Amino acid sequence: MIFFIDTANLNEIKEAYNLGILDGVTTNPTLMAKEGITGSNNILKHYVDICNIVDGYVSAEVNATDYKGMIAEAEILSELHQNIVVKIPMTADGIKAIKYLSNKEIKTNCTLIFSAGQALLAAKAGATFVSPFVGRLDDIQADGLQLIAQIRLIFDNYGFETQILAASIRTPMHIIQCAEIGADVVTVPLSVILGLIKHPLTDKGLEQFTADYNKGNKQ
Ligand code: G3P
Repeated sequence: MIFFIDTANLNEIKEAYNLGILDGVTTNPTLMAKEGITGSNNILKHYVDICNIVDGYVSAEVNATDYKGMIAEAEILSELHQNIVVKIPMTADGIKAIKYLSNKEIKTNCTLIFSAGQALLAAKAGATFVSPFVGRLDDIQADGLQLIAQIRLIFDNYGFETQILAASIRTPMHIIQCAEIGADVVTVPLSVILGLIKHPLTDKGLEQFTADYNKGNKQ
């Protein structure tokens, strides 16, 4: 299973990368703004800074919502670094842009996916990744994980190569359930990645082992 971190915070990216388990990064305009990164030049520079930390795919989102604007931005973003994946929103113009970029062999991540039909269209257009938002569906009493399962079934039925990138992951259990379903990728905040490590019995067991080792050393 491929692990991306969902943040624009360089320290968090470094921390996850230093763990040795990070395969890439996803960002969005909200995550950029949260880090105080605003203005197109600063945003472009920040993507390069991220690419210089992580040896893996880095999703960089277009801000235009029209076809021509998306293509123009996508071409600038994709030239920043070979690992950039252009994040395109799920709209009619977005689908057209994904098709165009796919023909040009520019990698894309279709974002804001909330239904299987949206994922199917993005895959048909040639998206490299689709990003269904698990947590945001759960927020409105829909079932985000069921959507991941539905997309998995459809992609497998037809052999689509588009990878399912489960986004809006809020808990360690979301990660485990996505792994059980067979999502190709999860993108996760650092706190949730670290949540996978924690178990009270591990802490208790380690405390006991350390205490027993120290007893022996005192003799
Ligand atoms: O990157 C998009 C997605 O992961 C956002 O997550 O928690 O804002 O719904 P969240």
